[in-house]
Amino acid sequence: MRMFGKAGKAAAVAAIAALALTACGRTDGGAGGGSTAGGEAFPKDSLIGVALPQKTSENWVLAEKLFNDGLKGAGFKADVQFANGGVSEQQNQIAAMVTKGAKVVIVGAIDGAQLGTQLKQAKDAGATIIAYDRLLLNTENVDYYVAYDNFKVGELQGQALLDGLKAKKATGPYNIELFAGSPDDANAKVFFDGAMKVLQPKIDDGTLKVLSGQKSFEQAVTQGWKAENAQKRADTLLTGSYGTAPLDGVLSPNDTLARAVLTSVKAAGKPLPVVTGQDSEVESVKSILAGEQYSTINKDTRKLVEHAILMAKELQAGKKLEINDADSYKNGVKTVPAYLLPPVIVTKENVKAAYVDDPVLGPLTK
Ligand code: BGC
Repeated sequence: MRMFGKAGKAAAVAAIAALALTACGRTDGGAGGGSTAGGEAFPKDSLIGVALPQKTSENWVLAEKLFNDGLKGAGFKADVQFANGGVSEQQNQIAAMVTKGAKVVIVGAIDGAQLGTQLKQAKDAGATIIAYDRLLLNTENVDYYVAYDNFKVGELQGQALLDGLKAKKATGPYNIELFAGSPDDANAKVFFDGAMKVLQPKIDDGTLKVLSGQKSFEQAVTQGWKAENAQKRADTLLTGSYGTAPLDGVLSPNDTLARAVLTSVKAAGKPLPVVTGQDSEVESVKSILAGEQYSTINKDTRKLVEHAILMAKELQAGKKLEINDADSYKNGVKTVPAYLLPPVIVTKENVKAAYVDDPVLGPLTK
C-alpha cells in the first residue's frame, strides 16, 4: 500500500495545517470530537482503547504493558486488549471500546482490511483512530498512522542479506530462499517489497538464485506469522530443491520466522545460511551473538508506544499533531498522515551499541 516519493513538502504543510484544525475539533472530517472547557478536545481522564493483534512476536507483548502503564501514567483510563482468537474477537473488542466511550482508539490490526464497520462506529461516536504499527486498509475512518518505516525495514533486510552473503563468500552466485509474513497483515507486503527492491536486481543479474523458483510474495507468505508454517515450508524447500546444493541465504521478515528457518536447516544437517530477521527478540539477539542468525532490526517498542501515547495526549489537549510523512501511506481509500520512526539494522558488529540503552538487551549484549 505504500506509495513512493516523498515529494510535496507543500502538500505536507497543508496536511499538517488541516490536521491542526481537525485536532482542535473545528472540522468534522478528522480527529477529535467537539471542544470541552479550556480548549481541550476531551477530558483528561478519558478512556483510550488499544486493540492489539495476536501475540505473534515479543514486541506486541511488550506493547501491552507499555500502553497500560503509559496511558495510566498520563492520567487516562486504558482498555488494552489482545485478540488471540482472531479477527472477529478484535472486531468485538473495538466495538466494546466504542460503547465504553473511548476517545481515541489505537489499533494494531490482525487484518487491516476487516475492521471497516467497527472503525465507522468509532468515528461516528467521535473517536479518533490511530493505526499502530500496521496500516488500516480500505477505510476512510483512520486518522493517523504511527509506525517504524516498514518499507525501510525491508530494504535493510535485503541489504543485510547481500552483505552477509558477501562476507561469507566474496563472489556469487548465491542460493537464497524468500520468506514473507502473514498476508492479512498490511506490513507483510511492505517488508517484502522493500527487500525485493534491493534483491530483485541481483536475482535478475544472476548473483542470487532462488532454486525453488518461489519468488513472488504469494509463494513466500507465512500464514499467521506462525513459526511452524515457516519451518514446514523450509523443510519442503530443502527437500525439494536443495539435494546436495548449499542454501546460502534466507530472507526472513522477522525473528520468530528466522529461528524457525534455522531450526529446519539444522534438522536437515546443512550448514547454516545467512538469515535476516526483525524485532530484536531475546532469543534472536542471543543467536546473533552466537554467530547463527545474521541480522535483526531494532524497532524499539518503547519509542513507538511512547509516540502513540504522545499523540493521544496532544489530541486530548486539542494540539497539533506532528506528521513526518503526509503522502506515502495510501490505504486504498485515503492517504493516511503518518509519523514514522527510523528502524536500525543490527548484526554482530553493532549489537552492543544498538542495545546500550535497552533494559533487557543491554545487559545481555555487554
Ligand atoms: C510487525 C513486526 C512483527 C510482525 C509479527 C508486524 O506487523 O511490524 O514487527 O514481527 O508483525 O508479529
